Amino acid sequence: MPKIRAKGKRKSSLKGKAPSRVANGPSPAIRDARLSDAAALAPLSGQLGYPATEQEVRARLERLLGDPAQAVFVVEVGSELAAWIHVMDSVTVESGPAVEIRGLLVDEAQRGSGLGRALVERGEAWARERGVGTMTVRSNVVRAGAHAFYQRLGYAVVKTQHAFRKRLA
Ligand SMILES: CC(C)(COP(=O)(O)OP(=O)(O)OC[C@H]1O[C@@H](n2cnc3c(N)ncnc32)[C@H](O)[C@@H]1OP(=O)(O)O)[C@@H](O)C(=O)NCCC(=O)NCCS
Repeated sequence: MPKIRAKGKRKSSLKGKAPSRVANGPSPAIRDARLSDAAALAPLSGQLGYPATEQEVRARLERLLGDPAQAVFVVEVGSELAAWIHVMDSVTVESGPAVEIRGLLVDEAQRGSGLGRALVERGEAWARERGVGTMTVRSNVVRAGAHAFYQRLGYAVVKTQHAFRKRLA
């Protein structure tokens, strides 16, 4: 299991470094999300730019946790829920199976200590357990930090898309 390091130790340059899975520090306590996490997840969802109430998050969790093709993992630091990841196994007509990272958030106070890496690696392990060999993630163009993070973890930019939405009456 990956280790977390003391906060604030992020390296400034991403160039020329070998991947480093392990940093000094205790292993993060990653576990499956539970419905009772809704109260803690709601404000974290707000940090991602999607404010939600506890009730809304609870309803979403009810649906997600009942779907074997999706998983939500959380990290606890002490007694606080500090981060989460949502992954989804899916297949399309035009391309093979892949596990997509649908959401990832580390509490602002906990960033730079390895939690994001640990959660992505947990999602990758979940994919391998299911026999899926490809991970994908879509990230808003404004999230430059997240882009550097994913590239540090071995993810490559493969295309740029527009996202469309239509509200149904
Ligand atoms: C992106 C995010 C998940 C990273 O989590 P984190 O716990 O801070 O990242 P880690 O400490 O695990 O960092 C892992 C590696 O990525 C690098 N990294 C992380 N954030 C970085 C940044 N903003 N710029 C450059 N490198 C970064 C770290 O240096 C580290 O490299 P190393 O292990 O080789 O030293 C977190 O910043 C976050 O929640 N951001 C806001 C929400 C968001 O953008 N989510 C993704 C939506 S697609």
